[in-house]
Amino acid sequence: MTTKPVKEKKSKLLEVRNLRTVFRKDDEDIIAVNNLSFDLNPGEIVGLVGESGCGKSVTALSLMGLVPDPPGKIMGGEVLLEGKNLINLSENNMQKVRGKEISMIFQEPMTSLNPVLTIGEQITEILELHGGLSSKEAIKEAISLLKLVGLPDPELRINEHPHKLSGGQRQRVMIAIALSCNPKILIADEPTTALDVTIQTQILELIQKLTKDIGTSVILITHNLGILARYASKIHVMYAGNLIESGSTDEIFYNPKHPYTLGLLNSVPRLDFDPKMELSTILGEVPDLTLKPGCSFAPRCQLATKKCISTVPPLTESKKGHMVACWESSKVTRKLR
Ligand SMILES: Nc1ncnc2c1ncn2[C@@H]1O[C@H](COP(=O)(O)OP(=O)(O)OP(=O)(O)O)[C@@H](O)[C@H]1O
Ligand SMILES: [Mg+2]
Repeated sequence: MTTKPVKEKKSKLLEVRNLRTVFRKDDEDIIAVNNLSFDLNPGEIVGLVGESGCGKSVTALSLMGLVPDPPGKIMGGEVLLEGKNLINLSENNMQKVRGKEISMIFQEPMTSLNPVLTIGEQITEILELHGGLSSKEAIKEAISLLKLVGLPDPELRINEHPHKLSGGQRQRVMIAIALSCNPKILIADEPTTALDVTIQTQILELIQKLTKDIGTSVILITHNLGILARYASKIHVMYAGNLIESGSTDEIFYNPKHPYTLGLLNSVPRLDFDPKMELSTILGEVPDLTLKPGCSFAPRCQLATKKCISTVPPLTESKKGHMVACWESSKVTRKLR
């Protein structure tokens, strides 16, 4: 009798499954991330988008094991890195993952650098501590990292303190630090918000180049869909802690199925837009994130029915690889010229 060869199941680089992160505040549970699931493949740039307060940074902190506890806690789900669950790893073991396996560029680059240490000291410290390099090797490596991220004259700049650098240069240093231990995954949380448009483009081009040159995978967090159109292959749209739509960048742009995504898209200027059509904004605000019945977007949604107000729509596949959580998704179409 011949037996079929058993196919080895290859695990994804990162699989987030039903992640739930809650903050306890004034005896109430704020559900910042609610049953979030998504995957990340090697060398891929995936976008996480949503308005302010939707849970994007808390998702990133959850993946990094950096949710401030108290008041926050991961209450459920799995974060599988090459099949290994990071949730419930001891702080000691998580420290080995942080920087080496998953690294993050934080939302506030200006405050993330230590003002009293030189740029060189901040990078070499990590290389010596986590990379096991001698101080001479670490300086050499720090210079080559700063070169990689395009900081001019790295041999000289390495001796300077952060305040001598421009915003864009500091952001490059932050990326160099994030890359110093050669991570498989880079989480970039609004990496360019504080920068002007030309520098924004340079930094994003740099991040994209790194995925091609060294195979890093990137979770790019932004509230700007225009940025994701250019750099991400997949987009996950978050609203009030929930994943409400997810799909390839083309699907999200040309065939959005959630009214919230449509609202976000209609607030992005496009060259192929009908000039007579005004850009719109989504009226209202993100609700507080305590548990409520129904779809969290219903109070702002023009398509909302009684069912939307009473029952949470499940995330379902509208097309292969395109997931949406909306009872009225069949009525959503994007009108392009
Ligand atoms: N330290 C904290 N304590 C209590 N609640 C918190 C804390 N951090 C975040 N939250 C809650 O989690 C929600 C999601 O916050 P998060 O920072 O993830 O939003 P975001 O999508 O990153 O927004 P932004 O675009 O403004 O950065 C917030 O609305 C807030 O209610
Ligand atoms: Mg944030």
